[in-house]
Amino acid sequence: MTPGWLQRLFAATYDPMLARYERRGLAELRRGLLADLEGAVVEIGAGTGANLVHYGPGVSRVTAIEPSGPMGERARRRADGSGASVEVVRAPAERLPLPDASADVVVSTLVLCSVRDVPAALGEARRVLRPGGRFVLLEHVAGEGSTLRMQRLLEPVWKPLAGGCHLTRTPLTSLAAAGFDTSGIRAVRLPMAGPVRPGLAGVAVAP
Ligand SMILES: C[S@@+](CC[C@H](N)C(=O)[O-])C[C@H]1O[C@@H](n2cnc3c(N)ncnc32)[C@H](O)[C@@H]1O
Repeated sequence: MTPGWLQRLFAATYDPMLARYERRGLAELRRGLLADLEGAVVEIGAGTGANLVHYGPGVSRVTAIEPSGPMGERARRRADGSGASVEVVRAPAERLPLPDASADVVVSTLVLCSVRDVPAALGEARRVLRPGGRFVLLEHVAGEGSTLRMQRLLEPVWKPLAGGCHLTRTPLTSLAAAGFDTSGIRAVRLPMAGPVRPGLAGVAVAP
């Protein structure tokens, strides 16, 4: 469990820390994945609400799931200013307080690195998605060769400072194990710092 002061510090510094990466192409990646979505969206680990400005008119409502109070507060303030139908709910992705088959889309951006239990979170995403629903993701992942060696060395220091973020996770394998069709996901180079540059973006489809 991340101590409260570290959660507050992470929340206060998150947007300034990401600002230059958003300008260098992260915002563009977000927009490309989110602008044409339709229906009821559940966003897990919504953080400070960085995705909210990117949802297009096809989205009927966004349920923004966020377990950290300080992050959720920022998302709530952003939602209030957005004019969209957004509800921020304090909960972990591993226990979504939502009915079965109630979502058209689940969105996860830079989140599967931080959730405590990836299979449980993906199981919950599957449960709340309607059959054929879409799991839209943008995640940093384990690299290869020297990048992976550097990620393994850094991870023990990085994790407590970055809100529990793991550098060496392999969400594509986890999504396939959870029964999603992952053929719509591609490898990307994220416009971010070296350890979080190897990435995945795209859409996995629920059975
Ligand atoms: C790196 S931030 C990403 C925030 C946002 N999705 C974005 O794209 O900017 C990771 C977020 O995941 C949240 N998180 C951590 N553990 C979680 C869990 N078990 N379930 C859902 N969200 C979690 C953190 O509180 C944090 O807001």
